[in-house]
Amino acid sequence: MNKNQQIQMIQRLIKQHEGQESELPEHFTKISTNRYTDLQELELEQMALFRELPIIVAHTSEISESGNYVCEEVNGVPLIILRDFDGDVQVFVNACRHRGARLLERDHGNCKRLLVCPYHAWSYKLNGQLKGVPEKESFGEMDFSQSDLVPVQFAEEFGYVWVVLAGNAAEKLDVRTALGKELSRDFDNFGFSKQIVHKKVSTLNDCNWKLVMDAFAEGYHLKSLHKDSLSRFFLKANIHDDCFPHIRQLGGRKSLLEEVKKNPHDWNFRLNTTLFYNVFPNTVFVFHPHWVSQMSLFPDGPNKVKVVHRMVIEEQPANAEVKEKLDASFQHIQSQVFEKEDLAISVSIQSTLASGVNQEFTIGGMEEGMRIFHKARDFYIDSFRNRD
Ligand code: FES
Ligand SMILES: [Fe+2]
Repeated sequence: MNKNQQIQMIQRLIKQHEGQESELPEHFTKISTNRYTDLQELELEQMALFRELPIIVAHTSEISESGNYVCEEVNGVPLIILRDFDGDVQVFVNACRHRGARLLERDHGNCKRLLVCPYHAWSYKLNGQLKGVPEKESFGEMDFSQSDLVPVQFAEEFGYVWVVLAGNAAEKLDVRTALGKELSRDFDNFGFSKQIVHKKVSTLNDCNWKLVMDAFAEGYHLKSLHKDSLSRFFLKANIHDDCFPHIRQLGGRKSLLEEVKKNPHDWNFRLNTTLFYNVFPNTVFVFHPHWVSQMSLFPDGPNKVKVVHRMVIEEQPANAEVKEKLDASFQHIQSQVFEKEDLAISVSIQSTLASGVNQEFTIGGMEEGMRIFHKARDFYIDSFRNRD
């Protein structure tokens, strides 16, 4: 996003704040709540979204050295994401080709030069090729040429490793097309590939994954749910750009009202606003003043979601004081704002759904981002259904 675009977004936000021009529609729509509870709905999402669309599984900095790996699970498929000794990324299903044991059990580490199965010690090179089979002659005439690790389609783009489970592993994944021109242009400028993950926390939450996406798609709840945490720093105004199927949102900090008295070219966008991206289907980026939250959601049943939250910073903290401030800021956002507010309310909603009282949810104009998200979800599922 260049300076002129930042200025335009701030001007839209200020107009909205001053009530000169409301961009928010005044209407309501309804969505059925079975999408949050039915196994069948989740299975459709798994097929149409989580298998077919690019999903983030690692940040480049987590596998910066040869042999570094991260394990992640998408749709119940355990994956190894690693950097080989040519400096290339490789992504494989984390399952031995002998009898299926996981080759790596930890969620990250360094696997040295070979992946060795803990069960009978079949070993694999970091490019996935089967290297060694103990007592090989005991398998008689067996052809081992089909026993390399199963590769998964991926790309390293915008500082992240993305995978498509249903993709052709022999072809590079085209993340740019999936993100579209607008988001690709913005993400090119963020420089995530040179940044680092300072913290990474995974939590398991008793709610449908979309309830968490919903919480990050609208600012309507800022004044109430976040009344003791964020609310005092932010304006009510919030703008949305429909970058179908993705969403770009901008919220204003109260300090923006002073900032806009300066010449527009001197406006500090980062310190006075909060930029959000909902990257469809399962990832949210939030630009805090000094770091970025990247959250990816991995459903594990209709009412269970793993939330992976990465704190991405521009460079290693210069000293202990800077590190302490960053750590405290992450702690506040993760433990208070996300866990006790956004995630807790999502779990609260899930707990009322079983009563069947709310067959439908109502979405108002201030929840426009949520409407865009569900429209995208329905679009992909309908396309999938019509195809098969
Ligand atoms: S299951 Fe891996 S070597 Fe037997
Ligand atoms: Fe929130």
